[in-house]
Amino acid sequence: MPEIRLEHITKRWNKFYAVDDLDLVIEDNAFVTLLGPSGCGKTTTLRMIAGLETPTSGRITIGDKVVFDSALGINVPANKRKVGFLFQNYALWPNMTVYQNIAFGLSNIKEPRKLSKQEIDETVHRVAQVVKITAFMDRYPAELSGGQQQRVAIARTLAPEPSVLFMDEPLSNLDAKLRLEMRYELQRLHVETGSTFVYVTHDQMEAMTLATQICLINNGVLQQYDAPLTVYNKPNNLFAADFVGNPSINFIEGEGKQRPDGGVELTLLGDKRAVFKPVQPLDLPAWFKGRDAREALAADAHKKKAAEKGFVEKGNKDETFRYHIDKVEEDDVSPQEEPALTNEDLVLGVRPEFIDIVEDGALEGEIYGAMPTGMESTIKVRIGNFLLTGVVFGSTLFTIGSKVHIDVSGDSVLLFDRRSGRCIAQGSLEF
Ligand SMILES: Nc1ncnc2c1ncn2[C@@H]1O[C@H](COP(=O)(O)OP(=O)(O)OP(=O)(O)O)[C@@H](O)[C@H]1O
Ligand SMILES: [Mg+2]
Repeated sequence: MPEIRLEHITKRWNKFYAVDDLDLVIEDNAFVTLLGPSGCGKTTTLRMIAGLETPTSGRITIGDKVVFDSALGINVPANKRKVGFLFQNYALWPNMTVYQNIAFGLSNIKEPRKLSKQEIDETVHRVAQVVKITAFMDRYPAELSGGQQQRVAIARTLAPEPSVLFMDEPLSNLDAKLRLEMRYELQRLHVETGSTFVYVTHDQMEAMTLATQICLINNGVLQQYDAPLTVYNKPNNLFAADFVGNPSINFIEGEGKQRPDGGVELTLLGDKRAVFKPVQPLDLPAWFKGRDAREALAADAHKKKAAEKGFVEKGNKDETFRYHIDKVEEDDVSPQEEPALTNEDLVLGVRPEFIDIVEDGALEGEIYGAMPTGMESTIKVRIGNFLLTGVVFGSTLFTIGSKVHIDVSGDSVLLFDRRSGRCIAQGSLEF
């Protein structure tokens, strides 16, 4: 089974960079999800690996074979890359039975040799068993439910035993329950086939639950490439923290600086005082120095690139992600009124499960909203004009308007630099 390697892959249409200098190694047997908002470049990335789209520049290697290299003029056509596709609009042949649909691709195989009738028959039955559609072999697609059709499409894709399987939102047409069921099937399929799966989705839940690695993209730029729980617990930046997790992470703006003992003294939520205590030793001034050095280096590299022949400035500029602060009354600040940011402007990220309602909690608030689901409740607590989202397990009933006290528990509070949006440290928050 091969490893897929993307080096400096860029795809642009005129000034629009759909994929911008992407470096990515998809390990053998991995289940990688390409995740990001609509239009961020997921499908384009997939199509480039598959050979259906030609990158503007860069190099793609599958196994030990270079399938694309802009500098060397290599571009192996899609049908020679030995990969399987499953696109969102899986079109089954309506005039063929389930059996014929699955067998169709197999009878077209000519390399290294044509398959015998018996070989085809065995393969069709084997993959049909994997996706549990053996009972419907003689039916036509119109006689199947949506989920069954989707499974036939998966079987058809699996039949030629592609060592790499690409899927572009394959479950998007299914209802929530079937979707969940199919997720289990895919997870199992991945283990059973031993193939490498590259899976596109804009559904963060799907990405979290299926992937061994999440490749999180925004505006054509890679934001983070890590295991799902790493992206969740240690997001690289505000965008990653916000995009992964449901309900969304709470962002709290804070202002302050580091004390000699390492804690960061902050003013937040209006006039509240708190101390962020990092888990690992943190030298905040040194962190900012490092950030400035990195930014200078990046600016230099960009200048050099801009001087090269044929360089095209990126039209869809990268901007620092604008996080949302949940408030009772939203204030309307137009962008030009934004004050200049200093190194004392910080943002905290608190996952909803760390907002605890406790009798002796340090912060006084009021229940603003509650959504009980039986197993847990998502609540919004009002503190002054600010709203914090929490998740409380168990079937507690909350009365809107009632007074509560909350604490922020654990040492998984994230500290971000507001200017660059980058995550600085993890720690606890004490009021
Ligand atoms: N042929 C094209 N010409 C110009 N721009 C294109 C072309 N194809 C795609 N794009 C642009 O490239 C960007 C990335 O498209 P892509 O299809 O990869 O997005 P995506 O991440 O798959 O989004 P979605 O979740 O909506 O499917 C989009 O902004 C799209 O408008
Ligand atoms: Mg897409």
